Amino acid sequence: MIKTDAERLVKERLGNEGSGHDWLHIDRVRKLSIQLAEGTEADEFIVELAALLHDLPDRKLADDRRMSRLEVETMLTSLSVGDDERTQIMHIIDTISFKGTGRTIPETIEGKIVQDADRLDAIGAIGIARTFIYAGSKGTPVYEPDGSDSAIQHFYDKLLKLKGLMNTDAGRKKAEERHRFMEVYLETFFKEWDR
Ligand code: ADP
Ligand code: NI
Repeated sequence: MIKTDAERLVKERLGNEGSGHDWLHIDRVRKLSIQLAEGTEADEFIVELAALLHDLPDRKLADDRRMSRLEVETMLTSLSVGDDERTQIMHIIDTISFKGTGRTIPETIEGKIVQDADRLDAIGAIGIARTFIYAGSKGTPVYEPDGSDSAIQHFYDKLLKLKGLMNTDAGRKKAEERHRFMEVYLETFFKEWDR
């Protein structure tokens, strides 16, 4: 089965990845994507496959884990995914993973859904955890009061902006709750810091 084969391939590649693009991130994005697709006209097969593959060509992955765009495409062909579906999936991966500006919006509803799911996994309690894992993997400090690079700085550079960039109503609703939790987290963080 195509989905099971794709799942196995991604699990093999990203199983124990250490900077927040691990298999469990992929699995959460897949589940969130399916939830967001419910009650919409989105094609669930495209949504699920794109979610499974969305991080494979990410620049942040180590060389031995990253797949080139062409390798992902070849993999889809070898899994017997049809031409039209392959094109749709590659469009999603291109806009999400090859993020030019990080603000490129996929043209299809399937792409908008996977982008929302990927962004939801970057915010809220899980997003906070991933931020510190990522910062730790790079040796970046938790916080620098002088405003230089830190995990806390990443909230202001990116995470607090994601709520306003959601494509779907269902995604926006989930984002609001996760956003509030980050605000409470930051407020508490600075209260403790200044004590
Ligand atoms: P994805 O491709 O899954 O959307 P990214 O590649 O942007 O995610 O980042 C992976 C995780 O690492 C995310 O949770 C993100 O917020 C976090 N991250 C990315 N850049 C930084 C940074 N400079 N400092 C701290 N965390 C970061
Ligand atoms: Ni991702």
